[in-house]
Amino acid sequence: MKVVVTGGLGFIGSHTVVELQNQGFEVIAIDNLSNAEEKVLLGIEKITGKQPHFEKLDLREKSAVQHFFKKHTDIVGVIHFAASKAVGESVENPLLYYENNINALVYVLQELIQLPRANFIFSSSCTVYGQAEKMPITEDAPVQLAISPYGNTKQIGEEIIQDTAKVTPLRSILLRYFNPIGAHPTAEIGELPIGVPQNLVPFITQTAIGLREKLSVFGNDYPTPDGTCIRDYIHVVDLAKAHVVALQRLLNKQNQEKVETFNLGTGKGSSVLEVIQAFENVSGQKLNYQIVARREGDITEAYANTDKANTILGWKAETSLEEALASAWKWEQKIRS
Ligand code: WQD
Repeated sequence: MKVVVTGGLGFIGSHTVVELQNQGFEVIAIDNLSNAEEKVLLGIEKITGKQPHFEKLDLREKSAVQHFFKKHTDIVGVIHFAASKAVGESVENPLLYYENNINALVYVLQELIQLPRANFIFSSSCTVYGQAEKMPITEDAPVQLAISPYGNTKQIGEEIIQDTAKVTPLRSILLRYFNPIGAHPTAEIGELPIGVPQNLVPFITQTAIGLREKLSVFGNDYPTPDGTCIRDYIHVVDLAKAHVVALQRLLNKQNQEKVETFNLGTGKGSSVLEVIQAFENVSGQKLNYQIVARREGDITEAYANTDKANTILGWKAETSLEEALASAWKWEQKIRS
């Protein structure tokens, strides 16, 4: 069965292509290479023995999207990762985010709903919750407003899908990721941040390898046990596997509603200092860091209630924080060797 993965050469997209191929799916990976490299295809091939069919395509070009779907009317579903995802950049350049994350989604959905199998897996984010009241966070927690433009595009994306599913054959599963980290255990694929990493774990590994002088810890005066922010760090391979399970749920028509939502996390919260400590344990080296002022827009705490994904989706994260950090470190050492 043929599945389209948009953003298929990106961090989570490429790991999902691997898991889809492992389950026997034929994959068409679409990417505009704005935040990915074509050589990722070689890494995928090293792991699975074959490359997905790749098409360089910018989903902001409506006619190109129409042309693509006219060529591939036999697909059974789309897993949609293609989007810009840097919170800080989205504050600086909101229109880039609304164009890339919303227009592209609309153009893909307009074509998908005309096909016989309109199954759609959407890459959403825990950022839609803002600072949730109650921990761990359940899927029915209120979706906050006035978060970053990036978070807003995820919220709007979910609403577009809900509204469309009401009046078209679209069937969808929204996956709200917590904090994806790590790399494939083979170190053949992983995260390739462009420029200075915004996220904690790639900054840690680049500091440890000597690319960055030191890690700045953004604040230790939060109302948490050690004063630093708490997040739910989930290994990218666990996350990728959840996408395959979600797609199979739609293909087997097991979904209870036309749109279902699942939090994808480990259910465990870790502070920044705990992540640093865990990294030092797995890497065997001290990390150079300093405590600095809080980062604008950061929330104090977010970790998932994973009961719904565990019981209904039948999926559970299996990789520990230490194993995930070890895979990130192995990848960093590989790409810098
Ligand atoms: C984690 C913690 C920082 C860098 C964002 C998006 C989310 C998802 C993941 C896309 C925070 C601290 C970080 C650093 C630090 N992105 N930190 N020094 O902000 O939780 O989530 O990225 O899907 O949608 O919102 O992740 O890794 O940036 O930060 O102290 O150099 O690490 O303050 O507490 P975040 P992050």
